[in-house]
Amino acid sequence: MKRHWKRIAVGVSSVLLLGSVVSVNANTKSSAEIQEFTSERLNSMTLEQKIGQMIQPDTRNITPEEVAEYQIGSILSGGGAQPTTGNRAEDWADRFDEYQKSAIDGFGIPLLYGVDAVHGHNGVSDATMFPHNVGLGQANDEKLIQEIAKVTASEMRATGANWTFTPTLGLPKNERWGRTYETYGENAELSAKLGSAYIKGSQGNFSEDNAIATAKHFIGEGIAKDGVNQGDIPYDYSDEEFQKVLKEELLVPYKEAIKNDVKSIMITYNSFNGSKAHGNKELISELLKDELGFKGIVITDYNGVDQIEGDLSYEEKVIKSVNAGMDMFMVDEYEGDIPKWKAAYEAILNGVNDGQIDEDRIDDAVSRILSVKYEMGLFDNDFENAYANRDLLADFASDDHKAVAREAVAKSLTLLKNSELSDSTLMSQLSNMENIVVGGSSANDIGMQNGGWTITWQGSKGNITEGTTIYDGMKEVAPDKNFTLTSNGAIQKGKFDAAILVMGEEPYAEYAGDRKPDELVLSNSDIALINKIKENDPNLPIVAVLTVGRPITIANQIDSLDAVIMAGLPGSEGAGVSDVLFGNEEFNGNLTLTWPWYASDIEEKFTDSSKVLFEYGRGLKKNESTPVATNDPRLIDLSKNDGVIEAENYATKHPEVQVENNKNIAHFWEDRYVTYNVQIPKSARYILSLNVAANFDNTVPLDIYVDGVLYYSTSENLSNTGGWDKFELLEMSDKISLPEGKHELKIVSQGRDFNVDYFQLVEFDDEFTPPDTTPVSEGTG
Ligand code: BGC
Repeated sequence: MKRHWKRIAVGVSSVLLLGSVVSVNANTKSSAEIQEFTSERLNSMTLEQKIGQMIQPDTRNITPEEVAEYQIGSILSGGGAQPTTGNRAEDWADRFDEYQKSAIDGFGIPLLYGVDAVHGHNGVSDATMFPHNVGLGQANDEKLIQEIAKVTASEMRATGANWTFTPTLGLPKNERWGRTYETYGENAELSAKLGSAYIKGSQGNFSEDNAIATAKHFIGEGIAKDGVNQGDIPYDYSDEEFQKVLKEELLVPYKEAIKNDVKSIMITYNSFNGSKAHGNKELISELLKDELGFKGIVITDYNGVDQIEGDLSYEEKVIKSVNAGMDMFMVDEYEGDIPKWKAAYEAILNGVNDGQIDEDRIDDAVSRILSVKYEMGLFDNDFENAYANRDLLADFASDDHKAVAREAVAKSLTLLKNSELSDSTLMSQLSNMENIVVGGSSANDIGMQNGGWTITWQGSKGNITEGTTIYDGMKEVAPDKNFTLTSNGAIQKGKFDAAILVMGEEPYAEYAGDRKPDELVLSNSDIALINKIKENDPNLPIVAVLTVGRPITIANQIDSLDAVIMAGLPGSEGAGVSDVLFGNEEFNGNLTLTWPWYASDIEEKFTDSSKVLFEYGRGLKKNESTPVATNDPRLIDLSKNDGVIEAENYATKHPEVQVENNKNIAHFWEDRYVTYNVQIPKSARYILSLNVAANFDNTVPLDIYVDGVLYYSTSENLSNTGGWDKFELLEMSDKISLPEGKHELKIVSQGRDFNVDYFQLVEFDDEFTPPDTTPVSEGTG
């Protein structure tokens, strides 16, 4: 029989006043009281009992009976760990209460229960899903973030979860990193301010509707080489240059979090020059605990200890981590035949028994854990607060909670481009337009607008949870307008006043979201949609709403887009988008990630402003049309440099095409392509030549597309040039017609391997003949 605690509300019940949760049963325990309780408890515990407190297994791999047997201190439900009975809030509450009852009845110390509630209590069906942090960074509103944190904590406590693994305080300097959207952006002060607002809102005064927060992942994750998740930070920890970045930038948000009494800090999977943070004593004990004075719980990342480098056994890794200062071990899966949590438990026990771990170190860890539990009131009133707070279920995903999320969506929208149409800007005219065509991969898809960490760890497309899609939100906010949904852009010319294309990244989380620069682009179907609309109605203004977790390359689309809005990953309440587009709300957001023209310039974007498409802080108002500061740095003007296109100055390329010696492209094989953005001085026929190399007798067959349309197919023989770096100029006999203006030139190899140093286009005559075919598909290039 499950024991469901009937809650007796103390004083005012938990009431939501227009999005503001009034806390009840405030815990105002003095530090002396906390200390006294903790040391009394600690003194009465056996070594085994203490070690149990340091273990945090995942609910997927421990039973309530085992919790009692090992006197476990905490459990978590990691991404996608849904109850077996269903995924409703009640299922979560029932599951947790079983574990909690087992702990309390078994040994009288309640469990902490951790979840990744990173944008709402996002593992639970139909919870209120808020914008991911990238959008909240843009909104830059501390009060709003506090509200979001409070609402999230109350939805968590309704299911028993009292510990959230958020906020992420990383400062992403390379958006190839798949966790960029979990952060507030690249700026340390902003992350400090908003992260701490979250912590305050979530922890409140440690009442029965609050949840302890986690500042994560300590430290440096946003500067890992090439943006690799769990990757290497290419400095020794004690390197002077690194210590300067650490002190001046990386620590800023953590210091603020500690000042605001954050109760836990999660250690990063990253390494410093190969040495993993999980075993780093200087970092955990000396810096975090001694120097910064952190008094809460230091927790590993999920199986983070496993990654400690060197030829160490699992036991040795755990011991190393305990000695580095780790207080709690988040563990799942198996170590050989036994659940890893048991292996971690035994490792610590053996470590103490054979003198490798000092018992004081264990006492330090367990005091921290007990203090947090006591301060949260989990022992109070016969453990009443330790169970799921079922009174709060009535408010789970309530209209009031969703109103907070909707407000956050509206406030996070960031206007990056806003063209002038006749005498005023597009965004100031939009709400007066009647006939709107809507399309794009995220227009009508709840999964897409929520991104990762939604219901499952990775999230997914489709109807995965309750909410309002962005398209449905348009109809809700502007019921008098005609919205037409298109999947392919087959629209009639002159029928519409504007197109709104909601386009985004498919959901991902953690390393599954790491990308190569060439992969940070719109999907083929979204690009085709833009092109089709342009083709069918060239003068129709297009508004792009980007539901992306980070900057992506839109250099080749930007001229076709009359307005660009960075929406982040808005969550469940899509109507917030229309509150700005068609309602009375003004654009409020500012960009928090420097947005390069090309993702291949991510590393230069902070030092070379010509590589920046949208600068940090950009955020226009409806009637503002401030143009971008620089021009496309990859635009090649064929009226200059004798029409030479240096091969390495591509805008995009097939992933297998390589750049060699910083000057030529190599591995240019059948079906592989490179694209160039070119300014063609006049519509004419051109002579195409290539400075090319091959070390066997070869042919050079090429297909050339202009803006996706096949213009030219040709082939020329090439004799062995004498080596892969012996270039010779090869002139193609066929002439190519090219149209005047700015275009994307896509050159596809149709033959065997050859290297290209440069292409050249020289005017031949003015007999310009456009291709006589209707547009064809681009093949597999
Ligand atoms: C992530 C953490 C998360 C943990 C628990 C890990 O893979 O790195 O951020 O809190 O899983 O789900």
